[in-house]
Amino acid sequence: MLFSMLLLATPVLALPKYLDAQTPLQSLDHSQGYQFDPLLHLPGISPYFDAIGFGLQHTAPLNCKVTAASYIIRHGAIYANDKEYEEFIKPFLWKLEKQRQGWSGPLKFMEKWQSPILEDKLEDLTPSGAVDAKRVGKHLLDRYPDLVPYTRRVLADKKSRTYDTAGNLTLAFPHKDEIEIVRILENKNGSMEPLDPHKSCKAFSKEPGTKEQKKFIDKYGESVSRRLAPWMPFKLTPSDVVGFQMLCGYESAINGKRSEICAVFTDSEWMAYEYAWDLKYAYMVGPLNPLSPYLGFPWLQTQAQLFSYIDKHDIPGNGWPDKQRFFLSFTHREVPPFVATALGLFNSSSDAREQFPTDHINWTRAWRMSDLIPFLGHVGMEKMTCTRGAVSGEGSGDFIRFIANTAPRPIPDCQNGPGASCPFDDFKKLIGKGSAKHKNFHKVCDEED
Ligand SMILES: *[C@@H]1O[C@H](CO)[C@@H](O)[C@H](O)[C@H]1NC(C)=O
Ligand SMILES: *[C@@H]1O[C@H](CO)[C@@H](O)[C@H](O)[C@H]1NC(C)=O
Ligand SMILES: *[C@@H]1O[C@H](CO)[C@@H](O)[C@H](O)[C@H]1NC(C)=O
Ligand SMILES: *[C@@H]1O[C@H](CO)[C@@H](O)[C@H](O)[C@H]1NC(C)=O
Repeated sequence: MLFSMLLLATPVLALPKYLDAQTPLQSLDHSQGYQFDPLLHLPGISPYFDAIGFGLQHTAPLNCKVTAASYIIRHGAIYANDKEYEEFIKPFLWKLEKQRQGWSGPLKFMEKWQSPILEDKLEDLTPSGAVDAKRVGKHLLDRYPDLVPYTRRVLADKKSRTYDTAGNLTLAFPHKDEIEIVRILENKNGSMEPLDPHKSCKAFSKEPGTKEQKKFIDKYGESVSRRLAPWMPFKLTPSDVVGFQMLCGYESAINGKRSEICAVFTDSEWMAYEYAWDLKYAYMVGPLNPLSPYLGFPWLQTQAQLFSYIDKHDIPGNGWPDKQRFFLSFTHREVPPFVATALGLFNSSSDAREQFPTDHINWTRAWRMSDLIPFLGHVGMEKMTCTRGAVSGEGSGDFIRFIANTAPRPIPDCQNGPGASCPFDDFKKLIGKGSAKHKNFHKVCDEED
């Protein structure tokens, strides 16, 4: 019965008649159901998703075992970043509040739409951000079932959003009650530098890239405003367009389900939004800010040291609990990009300098921050012991592998180990060189400009 119903129903459902003639055989197989998803193109403000990366396998390569791992993780979803709210979202909401009539067509729903942003809680972790944090915790537990149970201490800073993220993420661990969340409140002996390097660096400012971003926003925002004008009671400024688009990300992240606003903009308008932010982040926390590698090294160096201690004495050192092999630090959106920049994890394969023109999108850039800094975005560093590890096939050895939002990413300058990992000794040399080059953290940071 069911079978015959399906037989009858299928052709009608699968192919509307008018498409019959134009649809190549099994076209669905070729595109694998490709659909554009704006939530994958919102650097900094989308709910967490796993990045695709380059297709390297996520589990340890054959004959390798992960023996330690350390993650630096951005906090979970908040209601809105203060600055973004003031600059882009609030002015748009203000106009919306005064002009509720006159929305039509695809924008008709805006007559009744309510902002999900709680102004008095702007930078707090949202309930769905807390749920997502626990999910990422579960994912980490599944990935490292032998390491996670020994974690006794995790690090956060003084902001409640990092502390609450730490609390909710570790709820997924079976021994959650034995975990202490240590808050690093001041920069004693440089203790804050790995976690919040930019807050220990006077010379760092969030200003770089603002001018360049504005140029690009003015350009694409103008045309979006013209396209939407027929269905709106007022004219959107380019900055309103950005605020309107941001609400797709924030509303989805706050409510834990896709916002209706996401369907308002076209694919290419989302790609322009994404580019505007990649450009801003490139200048602020990426390859176009000469401070970025300096700010990425403190975390790398501390983890390299930690992983060496484990080697030598079979105890982590620096006062870490004896058997702990899995480390978590909770931070802000700036830090994973600093680490990625210090290693070149998001560099193009060419040696060309990253270029961010302000009059058109650079489609071939490698610097795509939607893959690194959604809420709960992270960089992980794994130490692997491989029995017949090296590419040459001889001997056993230790290797380091980097993970960005679940997907392994090779270090351009060191990828000759199994699964494109880096031999630990070479990694230490690389970090040593980088650190020597960048040991002037204080010299560059204490100069205010
Ligand atoms: C989880 O996050 C919420 C904020 O969304 C916070 O109130 C709560 O204390 C957190 N839970 C834990 C166990 O840290
Ligand atoms: C800072 O480091 C020095 C030497 O490494 C040590 O003697 C001192 O106790 C440390 N101070 C704090 C507050 O950790
Ligand atoms: C990544 O690219 C930047 C230029 O965009 C360059 O300065 C840096 O050395 C590269 N890093 C690596 C590790 O190749
Ligand atoms: C895009 O960026 C790459 C480096 O990331 C650079 O080689 C290329 O010239 C840029 N293209 C355009 C059109 O700006």
